[in-house]
Amino acid sequence: MANLKSKHVVWHPGAVNKADRETVTGHKACTLWMTGLPASGKSTVAVALEKALWDRGVHAYILDGDNVRHGLNKDLGFSPEDRNENIRRIGEVAKLFTDAGVINITAFISPYRADRDQARSLTKAGEFLEVFVDCSPEECERRDPKGHYKKARAGEIKEFTGISAPYEPPLTPEITIRTHKQSEEDCVATIMTYLEKNGYVPTA
Ligand code: ADX
Repeated sequence: MANLKSKHVVWHPGAVNKADRETVTGHKACTLWMTGLPASGKSTVAVALEKALWDRGVHAYILDGDNVRHGLNKDLGFSPEDRNENIRRIGEVAKLFTDAGVINITAFISPYRADRDQARSLTKAGEFLEVFVDCSPEECERRDPKGHYKKARAGEIKEFTGISAPYEPPLTPEITIRTHKQSEEDCVATIMTYLEKNGYVPTA
């Protein structure tokens, strides 16, 4: 509740809590926070994972960087300050989704460790699972599905992560997937196995 602009807003508690929702859905709620370089495979794996969870009856939902930047965050660019605000807002949205009983999957580059740690700090223990989407910079640039790396090399896109803006990999992510070594199915299975082993979703 820090730094409220107005002193005259008061928290209003609800009558249904997260545990109530988890009883109804039959699974735990959490944020799967994917982070990785552009073209590392965050969105691709997120889509496949969401479908796999959904097919098991899990309430799953993706918050994707490119998509959220079309709406909620359309006022933000790619300076360190704007990325910080991007991740701050998504951290808050992810927290709401978790509170609503949903396994939410965020797919944002989220290049700064401090910003990711700030998003984690909003959550309770076990509610925030950092997923490092690990892929070599060379492979990401080779893939270049949107032609962004090429444009960044040509100076047409400024502050491009991996070329002209930094990426700080996680130091102790809960889950790591290696998209240049594992298939898409394998990456989904790695995450699903973690969720099963740690009691987030029932074993299939
Ligand atoms: S983040 O760094 O603030 O977390 P976010 O995940 O929301 O980034 O958005 C990344 C997407 O924006 C990329 O998939 C890419 O399509 C697009 N994009 C446009 N400009 C840039 C840039 N300068 N750096 C990185 N991604 C960019």
